[in-house]
Amino acid sequence: MPDLALLKDLDVKGKIALVRVDHNVVKKGKIIDPYRIDASLPTLRYLLQEGARIILMSHVGRPRDKKTGEIKISDDTSIEPVVAYLREAGFNAVAMTLPDYDANGISKLKGGKEIKELKAGKYDIVYLPNTRWFTGEEGDEKEKKALGKQLAALADVFVNDAFGSWQPHASTIEPARHLPSCAGFLMEKEISHLNDVLKPARPFVAVVAGSKFDTKIEPLYALLEKADFLVLGGVIYNAYLCARYGFMIKGVSEEDLEAAAEFVEFSKRYRGKIVELQYIVESDSLDSKKKGSYRTHDIKALGKGDFLNYVLDIDPRSFLEKKTKKTFAKANTIFVNAVMGLTPLFTEGTIALDETIHANNRARKLFGGGDTLQELNTLLPEIYQQALINQRYYFFTGGGTILKVISEKSPYGLEPVKVLLKP
Ligand code: 3PG
Ligand code: MG
Repeated sequence: MPDLALLKDLDVKGKIALVRVDHNVVKKGKIIDPYRIDASLPTLRYLLQEGARIILMSHVGRPRDKKTGEIKISDDTSIEPVVAYLREAGFNAVAMTLPDYDANGISKLKGGKEIKELKAGKYDIVYLPNTRWFTGEEGDEKEKKALGKQLAALADVFVNDAFGSWQPHASTIEPARHLPSCAGFLMEKEISHLNDVLKPARPFVAVVAGSKFDTKIEPLYALLEKADFLVLGGVIYNAYLCARYGFMIKGVSEEDLEAAAEFVEFSKRYRGKIVELQYIVESDSLDSKKKGSYRTHDIKALGKGDFLNYVLDIDPRSFLEKKTKKTFAKANTIFVNAVMGLTPLFTEGTIALDETIHANNRARKLFGGGDTLQELNTLLPEIYQQALINQRYYFFTGGGTILKVISEKSPYGLEPVKVLLKP
């Protein structure tokens, strides 16, 4: 196994530590589920005990417009609620004053007042602005390198504890090129649990759903090979159904449809592995749910030429259908990176999914990803609390990361992890 540089081996005494975390838990300015913040606290506490002071950074949301490249800086994607949470938890933390910016985001990061005060001992933690507010975070190589240098110049050491942020962006890889660096405790712990998905007890059922079609479609190919059964939901499932059965669903883009058609073609090699949830919920509206404005369809009764309004959920009845029921009941490993409902109004599919999984007492149950955990916590708080102390469950802080690790068959090729390997 490759040798990862670890926090306990790095000399951090009295140093300024630049720490990348995945605190992407803010939705429209509010924290719904702080699980990913809590999971990073052991690293922060250890650093402070060792007499280090901390410069924290995380991305929040996706403030960059994919088409225009413009970066929207607003309260919706600010790290301020996270700073408030840390203060509540007893940390002497402050947010860095926002540097100058324009439509391209923040192009220059300088030390500033709070960093000086941190060094003088006034604070224990200074939180940098959302890393995705910086031009360089997802910029071209030159911009990334420039941001990497500016970040590294603030600190003595770099600790990456952002297991959920697998993408090779400036803040996840560049500081490691300039500073003594290591994985934080959370990163170390998550990597140690990966064998549960890389060498799963079989049958292995994977459930993937959600709104990020672009980053999820590619790993589905590897999952189809790896898993014994694959269950889809959300935007991915809508596109899959259109491509497979020829009906149309409002909101499914041409682009997604094309990608889904390729996937459907590929999936023919693995007949029977995709377990289709049979009943879908069509709604006339995205933002209201009134009697008569939504209805259930049996996918088997739909065909070419049918045009459905928005499909926003899975009907719980799907989980009572024979093959689906058996698939979940007989599984020995279940990996879930899935929220079935597409809007906060449609929650029944996720509730039925999570209850079905909970009813299997034997399987190793691995949940991964911010939205997945957040929905389990909000919709089924009792199961969530039980799961936290139940050995059969494990919560990964990154869902996309797990999908990527399964595609690559190892975590060590992921750029942010690779830069932390000992030479
Ligand atoms: C997440 O919350 O899933 C991670 O922080 C990654 O976010 P991203 O998919 O927007 O890169
Ligand atoms: Mg996510």
